[in-house]
Amino acid sequence: MKPYIVAIFNQKGGISKTTTSTNLAVCLAAFGKSVIVVDLDSQGDSTKSLGIDPNVKRGVYDLFVGAAEIEEVLLPTLFEGVRVLPSTYSLAGIEIKLSELKDSQRTLTNILGHASLDCDYVIIDCPPALGILPINALASAHAVIIPVTATPYANDGLMRTLPSIKYVQEGLNKNLLLQGVLFTIHDRNKTARKISELIRSRLGGTVYGAEIPRDNMVIEAATARLPVCVYAPRSPAAQAHLDFTCEFLDRHQKIAAKAGVAVPPPPRREEAVERLSHWQSLHGNTVGGAAKDRVRQGRHELDRRLYGDRTIMERLHLGVVHFFIENRFSLVAFLLVILAAVVTLVGMGLEGVRLLATTVGLS
Ligand SMILES: Nc1ncnc2c1ncn2[C@@H]1O[C@H](COP(=O)(O)OP(=O)(O)OP(=O)(O)O)[C@@H](O)[C@H]1O
Ligand SMILES: [Mg+2]
Repeated sequence: MKPYIVAIFNQKGGISKTTTSTNLAVCLAAFGKSVIVVDLDSQGDSTKSLGIDPNVKRGVYDLFVGAAEIEEVLLPTLFEGVRVLPSTYSLAGIEIKLSELKDSQRTLTNILGHASLDCDYVIIDCPPALGILPINALASAHAVIIPVTATPYANDGLMRTLPSIKYVQEGLNKNLLLQGVLFTIHDRNKTARKISELIRSRLGGTVYGAEIPRDNMVIEAATARLPVCVYAPRSPAAQAHLDFTCEFLDRHQKIAAKAGVAVPPPPRREEAVERLSHWQSLHGNTVGGAAKDRVRQGRHELDRRLYGDRTIMERLHLGVVHFFIENRFSLVAFLLVILAAVVTLVGMGLEGVRLLATTVGLS
């Protein structure tokens, strides 16, 4: 059976496309499905989030230019059932390369169509903006999911994204289905509630019932280069991603049934949580330690680039300033402590001089 291909797309950046892609992939695998993630973003965030080094030799770029076959590019991840077609930094130059090719908007369709993909789902993580790569993703997909954040600017992003999907539906891919809109990085304030109510009233059942809350665990997980569903399977964001996956599977089952294809129901949710917890126990600590090293290395690298040519005194000064900032010490409080210490020392010194003078009989 051919896999169900889903593009995760919104023209706006930083709206949780990658987080949604990787967590959906591991949750589907936790439900016993086999998944291939296609990282179409030259930033390589989903490649990294699945524990793959972004400096891999071959990636999606090589597929697009015909320099490699899928089997040569496809990599296993830490999570059984999830494989990735990784991104490499060269993907940033693909626009120019593809503009030289005929039928460049259907390159990915041809690649995926000709390969015999032995998996249940293909999830395509799209880059922001409407370039040749997202167009390729939408042209090759059966369905598209739009992550959206309930903020005014993000709402504008959704308004620009819907016509782009329509454009592809009218030309390149008549069968492309908008499987749903997913609220992500969701805040529980008045503005967010108003915007989400407005979008729900206009798009109705297209919007998933699950909403992924803003949760710091997602950021911690990204530092550890793990999807939050593995890093902290019981966190609010992970639980919401599992709810979303259940809805996703349910919608897919209905879509498949309409097309006369039977998709077996997923196992119980508890089994998926158990598998995620198992992955957490296997990879949580090892990857967590590496994350701390990565933060440290990143800080040294940043300092080297910012302060490379400074003198020792200037570096010492900046080191003190950074110490205060990083440790959130107040400079004023510190100066007061120093002042108090100086006054005490001077007082002690004067007292010593007075005692000495008394001893030698000068007063
Ligand atoms: N539920 C959440 N709670 C808190 N932070 C989140 C949540 N989801 C995502 N983030 C954070 O928001 C940032 C953007 O997320 P992500 O990289 O998934 O967005 P994106 O749409 O793929 O971005 P880009 O357009 O750059 O590809 C990341 O730092 C991520 O860790
Ligand atoms: Mg991304």
